[in-house]
Amino acid sequence: MSHTNLTGFGLGLRTDHYADFRATPAPRLGVDWLEVISENYLVPGGKPLAHLDAIRRDVPMVMHGVSMSIGGTDVLDLGYLRDLKALADRIEPAWISDHLCWTGVEGRNLHDLLPLPYTEEALRHVTQRVLRVQDMLGRRLVLENVSSYITWAADDMAEWEFLAELVRRADCELLLDVNNVYVSATNHGFDGRTFIDALPAHRIRQIHLAGHEVNDDGFLIDTHDHPVCEAVWDLYRYTIGRLGPVPTMIERDDHIPPLPELVAELQRARDESAAALVPPVELAA
Ligand SMILES: [Fe+2]
Repeated sequence: MSHTNLTGFGLGLRTDHYADFRATPAPRLGVDWLEVISENYLVPGGKPLAHLDAIRRDVPMVMHGVSMSIGGTDVLDLGYLRDLKALADRIEPAWISDHLCWTGVEGRNLHDLLPLPYTEEALRHVTQRVLRVQDMLGRRLVLENVSSYITWAADDMAEWEFLAELVRRADCELLLDVNNVYVSATNHGFDGRTFIDALPAHRIRQIHLAGHEVNDDGFLIDTHDHPVCEAVWDLYRYTIGRLGPVPTMIERDDHIPPLPELVAELQRARDESAAALVPPVELAA
């Protein structure tokens, strides 16, 4: 199994910023590493891969996928996993992540990251699949908690209990999306800190921060098209205070601003993390 010591603060690599990162190495712009969407680079040849190779020379990368459907009931897509492994051999990412979800059934892609029922049966099912994927990739898989708008009547444990138990049984790791925790906590009426408190701290490989939208019914939708909101910064500080330093990045997938704007937001993540790590001052007796 691979081991990584990647640290610091990253951004998702988006086509809008290829030219910036090709002109100036990412670390000189204040970006310690980049997360790439694996599916964008699985076709051999072509321009995206050429940009990727050029940018990779100057900065470490991690791979993030959206179509493994690790929780699904269709057979694992071995062709996809082989392509993923080939991309990993090419760019040597510090880790490979996807989402703890299912994305379709019987070959139909629903184009959504849907939550699993949190049951013992689902836990056994996903554990087997994670073990299989880890065997194929030759490394631990990092799984992200999704935001949700629904829960299943069949649930017999909380999402955080399911995650903690999956990590224990499958020996995998977690990508903790603090915005997703906040979105789900608001939609379902639990305290986000309860979620954070239940997770095995040493298995949290990465953190995502992102913005969301509030719809007319007061529900939160995970849109990645806004800056991180104050309530999510509060939960991020709480998270770092409890977990210690964790590589953190900001996800922006829509209304993508010029790079300096995202770098400024990333600097705020650095500052919030540093503030959360300062030990409390002992008051003199
Ligand atoms: Fe995320």
